[in-house]
Amino acid sequence: MTQDIQSLKAEITDEVKAACDLKSLDDVRVSVLGKKGRITALMKTLGKMTPEERQTKGRDLNILKDEIADLIKHQESALKKQEMDARLASETQDITLSPRPEYMGHIHPISQTIEELTTIFAAMGFSVAEGPDIEDDYHNFTALNFPPGHPAREMQDTFFLPETQDEEGEYAKKLLRTHTSSVQIRHMENNKPPHKIICFGRTYRSDYDLTHTPMFHQMEALMIDKETNMGHLKGCIMDFVRAFFEIDDLPVRFRPSFFPFVEPGAEIDIGCSREDGGLKIGAGDDWLEIGGSGMVHPNVLKNCGLDPNEYQGFAFGMGIERMAMLKYGIPDLRTFFESDLRWLRHYGFNPLERPNSATGVKS
Ligand code: DAH
Repeated sequence: MTQDIQSLKAEITDEVKAACDLKSLDDVRVSVLGKKGRITALMKTLGKMTPEERQTKGRDLNILKDEIADLIKHQESALKKQEMDARLASETQDITLSPRPEYMGHIHPISQTIEELTTIFAAMGFSVAEGPDIEDDYHNFTALNFPPGHPAREMQDTFFLPETQDEEGEYAKKLLRTHTSSVQIRHMENNKPPHKIICFGRTYRSDYDLTHTPMFHQMEALMIDKETNMGHLKGCIMDFVRAFFEIDDLPVRFRPSFFPFVEPGAEIDIGCSREDGGLKIGAGDDWLEIGGSGMVHPNVLKNCGLDPNEYQGFAFGMGIERMAMLKYGIPDLRTFFESDLRWLRHYGFNPLERPNSATGVKS
């Protein structure tokens, strides 16, 4: 490239870079590439040159023309982006409304407790499963090793729906599930092992007093694998109750008990004190029952198509209201479902401070 083209290129490059808006960039473009532009004028001189001169000069000018056109294009997109950024920054509207505590709703203690439990079990690798509130006798009882007429069914008296015909043409009464253990069956029927699930949901029994309501909530855990044993059951429950009550050395005791769908079965107790009529979790040498647990009965595994010689595991279940009452000092179960706003304002939780799997239980 000859000296004059080199310096012209430097000159134009400076001008393009100095153009700080689209209008001045366009002025530069016209002054260079327009009809009377500097490169256009030079192009016109080619005709008067000798063929040799024209060949080199013409090539150099074309290269320069392309380079400058490219440079202008680049600068143009940089300026357009700059302009868009400036518009976005100046035209953004803040549509959020600042918090007004006087109007803020409250999270019901049941929802809060479920959120906390989900957070804890998610951290342990459990996933959340669901099942229907309206169940059939098979999933609520029979598959769980409560044969028809078994006396253990009487402990779970529930509400029956009018008789309907099922897929096989049999007449049967559906019922409102008495426990979330039915979800164990539904999950195992529809998924391949290993199983590691937690379930939360409404359950129903025909009871009503200070500690029983016809509808309440339960949680159910199920873990099935080839070598899952009672040690895993104990470790899992201890870690979970200690995390939930936020007491690192909370005493936990397993007391032999009977549930048709587990063998062996155990009730879960946590340490407490009951001095001066007040209940304190974690202190003292008294015990409080919080749920049932055990190793899933071979008959239950068989009912779900699993070979008990290959698969084994544990299950446990407990009442969610009870967990909430104990953790948050709520004395009467019935108040959970009275929809009294004063109660909810007192025992409810700030929706902006809900725990989640990112923040953990304590935040
Ligand atoms: N389903 C039982 C009930 O409602 C609670 C229960 C006991 C669940 C033992 C379990 C278990 O998974 O292993 O009373």
